[in-house]
Amino acid sequence: MNARDEEIEESSFNETGNLRGDYNVTPWQVDGVVDYNKIVQDFGTRLITPEIIEKLRMFTGQIHPLLSRGFFFSHRDFDIVLDAYKNGENFYLYTGRGPSGHVHMGHLMPWFFTKHLQDTFRSRLLFQITDDEKFLYSQHLSLQDVEKYAYDNILDVIAMGFDPKLTRIIIDTKNIKALYPLYLEISKRLTFSTAKAVFGYRPSSNIGMISFPAIQAAPCFLPSLIEQKPTRVLIPAAIDQDPYWRITRDVAEKMGYYKPAQVHSKFVPSLEMNGKMSSSKPTSAIFTTDDPETIESKISGAYTGGQPSVGLQRMLGGDPDACPVFWYLSHFFDDGKVSFERSLKCRTGNLLCGECKSDLTIQTKLFISEFTRRRDQARNQIARFLYEDNPFD
Ligand code: TYM
Repeated sequence: MNARDEEIEESSFNETGNLRGDYNVTPWQVDGVVDYNKIVQDFGTRLITPEIIEKLRMFTGQIHPLLSRGFFFSHRDFDIVLDAYKNGENFYLYTGRGPSGHVHMGHLMPWFFTKHLQDTFRSRLLFQITDDEKFLYSQHLSLQDVEKYAYDNILDVIAMGFDPKLTRIIIDTKNIKALYPLYLEISKRLTFSTAKAVFGYRPSSNIGMISFPAIQAAPCFLPSLIEQKPTRVLIPAAIDQDPYWRITRDVAEKMGYYKPAQVHSKFVPSLEMNGKMSSSKPTSAIFTTDDPETIESKISGAYTGGQPSVGLQRMLGGDPDACPVFWYLSHFFDDGKVSFERSLKCRTGNLLCGECKSDLTIQTKLFISEFTRRRDQARNQIARFLYEDNPFD
């Protein structure tokens, strides 16, 4: 075992690769109530400070609500990427999706921020679809299933409005030729003990899963090959993906590349009591493919921060901080002023949960109906976005 392996062995992860403590966050599972201040310490990332937000504001003019509301909260080297850009060095964006089912509103959040960064910096974006990961990880998905979801999810990616000239979608099983040499270089430098310490593999883990992280790492270095010079990469994603970047950063400089930088988001909460919005629990999530009746019934059954009866709500008020319905309204639809007034009325018993649920239902139906229109239009644009040999020519 080398020194670096020992360092990771001694990390904050227990023997199954999960964080020690009251919650678990891995790329494949998030359980419990996540303590975001603690996760920064446990993962060894850094909080996004007002100084970094100010640096970004020099380019964007205003602060994106996902930053001002603290939804994007942590980073690695975001400041370095911004300083380099100021000195004339462009960077690529890189993000992705594992096609295990339909896309839900939680997945859209990192993509909204990615689009904001693309619009601001006119950055090229690589978007990876890890159909291989979902096939290897799932007990029930066949290769045909993940292929079907890959093309279904690509409609969502295009519906986000990414610039077709600046965006290329890599489907792992289709574009493996572009990834494979990098995969080899990366996997040769990663030991099983490091991968086990970071991802918690067990003797029963299939060997495809064990080497998969090198495939998700590969697009971090692809821009350097495309540009034929070391090129910086910034990855917007929720914090669950960070273990991949930890191992990638370990090998980057040894391979002659920059360490990839990240901005990490929190998780969009479940519509139910605890946890994150998750594809594996359909009632916890609003999918972009949900019809109006399904949206209505999911929101009407959602957990809230309200009291058990109207009388108690009027008397004691509710707790918007513990309410996923309030969370959705404040992060997706209400502006700062409306959100503040809503929270005040809730706390003082002047607003009932039914009223917030009704507002959320109306807004979500409108949003999804517009998104569906864009998804339909995306069907004949797919070819423009797919990765090819000379991707940006
Ligand atoms: P996947 O498909 O699990 O998730 C896609 C993106 O959505 C984020 N995410 C969430 N964000 C907020 N709230 C939630 N409840 C929530 N659930 C998921 C994820 O962090 C991710 O950004 N292995 C990856 C695919 C991938 C990738 C990447 C992701 C390949 N390369 C580069 C990010 C960056 C996966 O299965 O993501």
